[in-house]
Amino acid sequence: MSTQTAAQKRVTIHELKRMKDRGDKIAMVTAYDATAARLVGQAGVDAVLVGDSLGMVVQGHDSTLPVTLEQMIYHSAMVRRGLQKVGARAHLVGDLPFGSYQASSDDAVKAAMRLVAEGSVEAVKLEGGSDYVEVIRRMVRAGVPVMGHIGLTPQSVHKLGGYVVQGKDAEKAQVLLRDARALEAAGCYAMVLECIPTELARVITGTVGIPTIGIGAGPSCDGQVLVLNDLLGLDDGFVPKFVKRFAELGGELRGAVERYAAEVRSGAFPADEHVFHSSAVRLVPLSDEGESEREDPPGVMGAPV
Ligand code: KIV
Repeated sequence: MSTQTAAQKRVTIHELKRMKDRGDKIAMVTAYDATAARLVGQAGVDAVLVGDSLGMVVQGHDSTLPVTLEQMIYHSAMVRRGLQKVGARAHLVGDLPFGSYQASSDDAVKAAMRLVAEGSVEAVKLEGGSDYVEVIRRMVRAGVPVMGHIGLTPQSVHKLGGYVVQGKDAEKAQVLLRDARALEAAGCYAMVLECIPTELARVITGTVGIPTIGIGAGPSCDGQVLVLNDLLGLDDGFVPKFVKRFAELGGELRGAVERYAAEVRSGAFPADEHVFHSSAVRLVPLSDEGESEREDPPGVMGAPV
């Protein structure tokens, strides 16, 4: 009889490192609720990110900035339940939202610990390079694995002047390489490289000993991450160059709801196979006003039959 528990079979930070060393690519995707988590868990991805991209994808904001720690905890716990339901092995990471780790190291460590304890993630991700070395060290010392995130860091959208590719000139590329080394030295177990030239991603991936997970950073990263809604083709708007739509579910969903609405209007839905029947039901005619206030005889109305 196997003594392995579900938790032991999960992809750990050590397994991710072994995957880099073996040259096995890491497949990571975002999820924001239990249904999505169940599906991506069944699809067998290696890692799931509860990204603060939920601010844009789920909440409809123009940026990730309004997302709160409470919301990240709420969504992370949903995703954990979805993964658990299907016995998924995926490693689960939660984003620390804007404002939860920048102001002070004490706040940052407390936020990270809450996301792990209440959101049931195995690791947290935060955006930034060498400026966050001390914060990362303290989190790791507290027992919280930290995934770094450099390049295009959406929480700094106003400082960056928009969602634009980073590290395109030699000087900025050098800064990013230095940041990557600083994250590794601080104790990060992996890092996201977002929207940087593929040439720079190749150098960073070859320089650091921890896995790099790219999004818009080319194929030489140790793994890739995409926003689930993007890869499923759920949104009609602008599609960034780095996104590949593996399905066009937006159109599928719209079509299904259109067919539903048409059948409700025509009376085709619900059909007999969607209807409950009971031969015991006898409708008692109401002969006068007084009778309408009488209690229903047992078995006539009430619980579904
Ligand atoms: O919030 C997010 O979904 C992310 C990924 C795009 C890396 O940070």
